[in-house]
Amino acid sequence: MGRSRGPRSVGDPAVPLRPVPMPPRDRLQPTWQHAVPGRISAALARSQQRPTGNWYVVAASRDLHPRSPLGRWVDGNELVLWRAADGGVAAGPGACPHLGARLCDGEVMHGRVVCRWHGLALGPEGFPGWAPYAAYDDGVLLWVRLDAVGGDAPSRRPYSGDRPPLAGSIDAVITTVGVCEPEDVIANRLDPWHGAWFHPYSFSHLRVAEDESDLDALVVDVTFRVSRRWGVPVRAVFTTPDRRTIAMHIRDGEGVGSVVETHATPLGTGTDGRPRTAVIEATMAYSPRPGFAASRRIAAVARPLMQMAARRLWADDLAYAERRYSVRTRARPTSRC
Ligand code: FES
Ligand SMILES: [Fe+2]
Repeated sequence: MGRSRGPRSVGDPAVPLRPVPMPPRDRLQPTWQHAVPGRISAALARSQQRPTGNWYVVAASRDLHPRSPLGRWVDGNELVLWRAADGGVAAGPGACPHLGARLCDGEVMHGRVVCRWHGLALGPEGFPGWAPYAAYDDGVLLWVRLDAVGGDAPSRRPYSGDRPPLAGSIDAVITTVGVCEPEDVIANRLDPWHGAWFHPYSFSHLRVAEDESDLDALVVDVTFRVSRRWGVPVRAVFTTPDRRTIAMHIRDGEGVGSVVETHATPLGTGTDGRPRTAVIEATMAYSPRPGFAASRRIAAVARPLMQMAARRLWADDLAYAERRYSVRTRARPTSRC
């Protein structure tokens, strides 16, 4: 009979927590001298040159059920998505070509979306006045290609970056909407220096590597806060695979291979005349630890916690993005205080 193991403790390499007490607020080193506006705007300008292939992230894969279509907006265009007969995703304009009913109120039958008003069934062959869009389900997120909107050369697939294997990871997606444009969302993430000041509940001991040999990758050493005393130190690398996406890869420390992909999708203009942008963020947590992601029970507990953490961060980061939009366009700021 093998010797039974006692409970694991902090200090055991199998336990990722480290005793990293949170610095008191008044001892936190200011970071503004490092967060050079010109450096952030230069990184943003480079990111805005990247092509998108006209692909837009519109929802989590998990949100699209076999029998119910899903309605979404991209840059003022109403869309409908549904599950095709092979289980893949299909998409098209959201208004019925007969009398304009919302197709997202219809149903899905035999891989076609069926209008609720008079039963017109629409599929890949299209209909006069209604042409389907290219759509792609990457297993975590749903993408739609809108060539008339995007302005780039179309690509067969979206330009997404590396991801951990789906089978070995736990994914969680959140969506939130702000009064800003996609570039304001990307600019927020291209300023990692705000992390420990603006999100002390999540980050501390943040240092951005000053090596500028690769201008397209921001390398950040940071401790994810678990409590005031304990944290998980990691090295994260931020890149922008396309101009509306910023990805954070964990390259060292606990969860190497995990990714947070943040997508900024323009929705259109609100009734106040200001732009609305959806932040659709997928966290793909990965660990080679035995049993991780294998248990549905772990995923069922972890997913809502991951979503809660992401929503908390984005409550602040959207305030940043909205403020940035107000400052650069001289629009009256969104009232928050
Ligand atoms: S409005 Fe859709 S079938 Fe008539
Ligand atoms: Fe932030």
